[in-house]
Amino acid sequence: MYDAGKIIVGLVVFFVLATSPLWFNALTEKGPEAPKLVYPTNGSTECVETKDYMIPNHMDLLNLWRDDVVRKAKRDYVSSSNGKIFDMSLSRTCMDCHSNKAEFCDACHTYMAVTPYCWDCHVEPKGAN
Ligand code: HEC
Ligand code: HEC
Ligand code: HEC
Repeated sequence: MYDAGKIIVGLVVFFVLATSPLWFNALTEKGPEAPKLVYPTNGSTECVETKDYMIPNHMDLLNLWRDDVVRKAKRDYVSSSNGKIFDMSLSRTCMDCHSNKAEFCDACHTYMAVTPYCWDCHVEPKGAN
């Protein structure tokens, strides 16, 4: 009465057609391009910590810096990756190297839809050095 083979083929054809928008998009669309970041042009090649540490942890590091400065009156930060000493300051240290905020911090934050409110109070760099 029923032809099981034909029913299965029919179901497979139906499934493939019904879901084609999904897999067609998955195969052909790459999604939005990741932003091209502009790194410091002042000759520095290293951040205060390794890049692998900075990408996921820079916001926590900044909070730590703020707390040390504001609550403990401590200003020197000793890098755990290269032993160098940095003044714990958003404007004077981070932004001294990353002076091109628009093509670095902002480029990534816009892409990730994050809007840090720090610049309400802290001085933004004027532009690339
Ligand atoms: C001495 C200059 C210098 C200072 C100071 C500095 N950076 Fe960096 N930063 C760099 C350089 C150079 C790189 C690229 C490092 C690499 O390619 O290994 C980098 C990389 C990064 C990255 C990773 C970006 C990526 O995806 O490739 C983040 C995030 C970052 N810095 C944030 C900060 C923040 C926040 C501060 C202050 C707490 C800071 N940096 C201070 C020079 C600096
Ligand atoms: C490679 C991408 C990238 C770069 C470059 C980058 N950030 Fe971020 N930043 C992020 C992401 C992603 C978050 C959000 C993380 C979260 O929500 O947990 C974030 C969050 C922050 C926050 C916390 C904001 C909040 O509202 O919680 C601060 C402050 C911050 N970034 C400062 C900086 C500064 C200053 C620079 C440039 C020196 C910088 N970031 C560069 C990706 C980046
Ligand atoms: C309402 C104003 C205000 C906002 C918003 C603000 N700060 Fe601050 N921040 C201050 C003041 C005031 C100090 C104390 C300045 C000092 O003692 O040198 C400070 C100190 C700091 C310091 C240490 C000193 C220095 O020179 O940087 C860090 C790091 C810091 N803030 C990070 C942040 C980050 C990161 C954000 C955003 C997530 C942020 N702040 C948002 C007002 C603000």
